[in-house]
Amino acid sequence: MPMHPDVEKILIDEKTLDEITTRLAGEIDRDYANAEGRVVLVCILKGSIMFMSDLMKKVTVPVEIDCMKVSSYGAGTASSGMVHIYLDLLRADIAECNLLIIEDIVDSGNTLNYLVKYLKGKGAKSVKTCTLLDKPSRRTAPFVPDYIGCEIPDEFVIGYGLDYDEKYRALPYVGVLKRSVYEQ
Ligand code: IMP
Ligand code: MG
Repeated sequence: MPMHPDVEKILIDEKTLDEITTRLAGEIDRDYANAEGRVVLVCILKGSIMFMSDLMKKVTVPVEIDCMKVSSYGAGTASSGMVHIYLDLLRADIAECNLLIIEDIVDSGNTLNYLVKYLKGKGAKSVKTCTLLDKPSRRTAPFVPDYIGCEIPDEFVIGYGLDYDEKYRALPYVGVLKRSVYEQ
C-alpha cells in the first residue's frame, strides 16, 4: 500500500502490528487464565478501536467488551491532569469485573492515571491497562502501563486508530506525521 502523502515515515507496519497484538493477547491470556469474575476489555474511544478489534480476536480467555469515551482537558495546551468522561461504564456489576483498559497511546500519562483511579473508585474488582504505544519520555504523571505494545520516541504519530484533527485514523499502519501538516 502506498504511504499517505502527509506521513513522514512508517513507524510500525501492518506485519509488526500483527505481531504486537499476538504477543499482547498471549500475555493477557496467561495473566487472566484464572481470573475470578468477569474479564472486561474497555476500549477507549475513538483512538483504540482498531487496536481493540485486532486484540480481542486473539485473546482466548472469555472476555466481555465495553467502551468509554474520554478526553484530557486542555488538549494541546498544558494539561491539568483532569479527564472529562463523555461516555462512562454503565454496569451494575462492576464489583465483579476485572477491567482491562485498552488505550492507543500513553503520552503524559494523565488520562490513564486518572482513569485507573476513577474505575477503582467505582469498585471494580481489578483495573489494569494495556496500551499499544508508549512515549515514556513525555510522562508528567508517574504512570506505568501493565501491558505495552511498543515504546516510541517523542514524535507525533497517526494511523491505526490515532488521529490528528480527526484525520488518518483509518490508515492500517502507525506513521509519523509530517511536521509541515501541523506547524505553519
Ligand atoms: P495522555 O493523557 O497525555 O497520556 O494522553 C493520551 C492521549 O493523547 C491519547 O489517548 C491520544 O488521544 C493523545 N495523543 C498523545 N500522543 C499522541 C500522538 O502522537 N498521536 C495521536 N494522539 C496522541
Ligand atoms: Mg486516546
